[in-house]
Amino acid sequence: MEFVPGRLEEERVFDGVVFPKTLKPPGEEYGANELVEMIKEKHEWVCDQLRLHSAILFRGFNVSSAEEFGAVVEAFGWDEMGYVGATTRLKAADRVYTANEAPLHQLINFHHEMALIKKSPSKIFFYCLQPSPEGGETSIVPSNIVVKKMEENYPDLMSKMAKWGIVFHMKTSAQDDSETIISKTWKWLFKTEDEVEAKKRAKEMLTCSSVGFGEDGSADFTYGPLNPIKEFGGKRVWFTPILGYTDDEVGLDMTFGDGSAFSVSDFEAYKKTLSALCVDIKWERGDILLLDNLSVQHARRPGKPPRVILTLLCGRKEQEPDVVNAAAKHKDREGKLETPFDAKRSPDFSPSEELVAAGDHQAHPSP
Ligand SMILES: [Fe+2]
Repeated sequence: MEFVPGRLEEERVFDGVVFPKTLKPPGEEYGANELVEMIKEKHEWVCDQLRLHSAILFRGFNVSSAEEFGAVVEAFGWDEMGYVGATTRLKAADRVYTANEAPLHQLINFHHEMALIKKSPSKIFFYCLQPSPEGGETSIVPSNIVVKKMEENYPDLMSKMAKWGIVFHMKTSAQDDSETIISKTWKWLFKTEDEVEAKKRAKEMLTCSSVGFGEDGSADFTYGPLNPIKEFGGKRVWFTPILGYTDDEVGLDMTFGDGSAFSVSDFEAYKKTLSALCVDIKWERGDILLLDNLSVQHARRPGKPPRVILTLLCGRKEQEPDVVNAAAKHKDREGKLETPFDAKRSPDFSPSEELVAAGDHQAHPSP
């Protein structure tokens, strides 16, 4: 059984390579069992396609349940990975979760999955159980092309970022709030109510440089100075997110590492570049989208219920230390000097089984 190349109306071509690659069955009446067999039979070829295109859409296979989706992912034989983060997800089947329970009218901005966690998944699968009646596309963008275009069009900004890095803040909710994308508190995230223990776990799990706790129950994580550009497999990608989770703010609370402002026009340059390069995948029921999470960013367009997109992560990739310029100390938002975590990261940390088993959460939201 051979895959048949398909074509999406919305697909793009970058450096002569179609993005994403669409693969269809050779006839009708092909379901999850046949797709599982084809993946096993053509495993090396499919992996080559993923390396070349960075994104593959399997369309036209009658994959009809979360369980069947799980079986298709299992056919790849990759290590599966639990979620770590502060968003709400619901379990749909063994190891399969809803992508994000944030209200569907909200945009979820572009990001690499779990980009702020020390170990990020190398692949992410999405499965469409129910497309949105309107909107709700998952948008994808080749992150290496984003870097290339930013360097071509905004060389001064990119040089300054490479020299000084950026420093930004992320906050977790003061209380559980299902109406927000980052819906969970630090106590939920770290499975402790003790600030000292939470700080220790933050240091172990996240790529942040320091954390502070507010009296209202929120936590403020400082990242950087870091360069958001990382290299994986020879590709330089914009791995660290700089935009807010949704579009009600221009960007994160962020400065360059020298303390100077990251301006509105700097954020707009990045947003404009993403918009010019992205592909909005118009979901059809049964679609499975496989992304190389180390080279592709994804986002969720606003949609309407009902919309059910399920997800599963595979592979672990240890990130290199983020620190730029070896800046040992920097000022927090009140101007006090913070003592950051050690710049050197533990090379062998993996989230505790307890945290992985907790499952339905991740560090940056999914569409
Ligand atoms: Fe995501």
